[in-house]
Amino acid sequence: MFSIHPLSRFESGQTAIRRPKQILEFCFDGDHKLLPLSDECLRYYYPPVFDAPWVSQGTRSRMNLSTGFDNWIKADESIDWHLDGLLQTIQAHEEALLAQGKPVNEVRVNADVVAWRGILTKIMTAQYDFFADFELNATCFQDTIYLELNHTHKDVVEQQSNNRQRQARAKPASDHSITPEMMQYWGYKFEALSTLPRPWGECSREEIESRDREIVNINTQYCSVVRTGIGNTSLILAGEVDCVLGSKPSDPTLPIPWVELKTSATQMHQNPNSVRKWENKLLRIWTQSFLIGVPKVVVGFRSPTGDLESLQELDTQKIPGQVSRGQKSWDGNVCISMTASFLEWLKESLLGKDGVWRVKLARNAKQIELFQIEETGTGRVIEPGFKAHRER
Ligand code: A3P
Ligand code: MG
Ligand code: MG
Repeated sequence: MFSIHPLSRFESGQTAIRRPKQILEFCFDGDHKLLPLSDECLRYYYPPVFDAPWVSQGTRSRMNLSTGFDNWIKADESIDWHLDGLLQTIQAHEEALLAQGKPVNEVRVNADVVAWRGILTKIMTAQYDFFADFELNATCFQDTIYLELNHTHKDVVEQQSNNRQRQARAKPASDHSITPEMMQYWGYKFEALSTLPRPWGECSREEIESRDREIVNINTQYCSVVRTGIGNTSLILAGEVDCVLGSKPSDPTLPIPWVELKTSATQMHQNPNSVRKWENKLLRIWTQSFLIGVPKVVVGFRSPTGDLESLQELDTQKIPGQVSRGQKSWDGNVCISMTASFLEWLKESLLGKDGVWRVKLARNAKQIELFQIEETGTGRVIEPGFKAHRER
């Protein structure tokens, strides 16, 4: 059992963190086919233009985020992808180096913990998230703990709680045709309106001006794999990155100017309640971006009916300071310190142990529970091909 409360447990001192550094990348194409080590689906930031001269009928009709809602291509939620995309990418990288004759011990991509970034986001925000409710599967293999979402739990509970959260966060729309699904589409549509498939200089004018007609396909993703560290735990995290500002620098020692895109309702009146809501949203935005080294966030503010109204740029590293000068809804150092302690506890509990373990935080609970669900092996958490590759 690991207690995430009281917060005062985690208030003292600064926890060491290691700046996330990209080590690998991969994509999923429009059919969700994995493209290991590829940046083919990376998008390039190019903000939508308000009142563009080429829009003849006034911009409003063209800047409504619902445009194209009837045609978007959704992800198949019934498939559990585990950590497969990440592990197959690590494998492809290691196999390429082995083929060049490099020794095994120099080739291996290793850390204490390997996971999707979203899992760490859930852990890092748990103390402040009233709706927090997750179940993870964890297994140890060759001195690394692999963490994945327990998909069965995700399907039944999390989707409901996400919808609850989204509905709670969203202003009730006077227009009943606006559904939670449409509001979800707005987020993806904003990403399509704010990015280009290639750097600006390589795109035709037609491509830039016709972004509004692009069919939104959420299978297409670019993912970055980073090496990072929180406290005494080293991590390899993979996460989707929305786009890059300009392009990736050719010098690998330079940080990459990633941009995270988010939508949010325009705040009509500033009151303590609306500020608190915004700060809570900033917690998720900051955590998600911080973990994978995204320095900039662009928020597209929208009306209750989905008209894109304005843009705001945020510096990721300034977000916690902004909140500490506001209503202090959360403290970034507490998030980091709790996560460091949690990871330490997880390592003590699991390193060297066989089997698959369940890591569970019940809604409104203040404790993370750990229990064994399979006594031997690593279950399906680790992709069988990856396991065979590592055991060769
Ligand atoms: P917004 O966050 O702007 O609403 P991301 O910002 O993480 O790249 O995700 C892009 C969009 O996917 C989100 O845009 C939202 O529409 C949708 N989305 C992401 N996570 C979600 C979740 N847990 N539940 C519902 N929709 C989600
Ligand atoms: Mg995204
Ligand atoms: Mg986004």
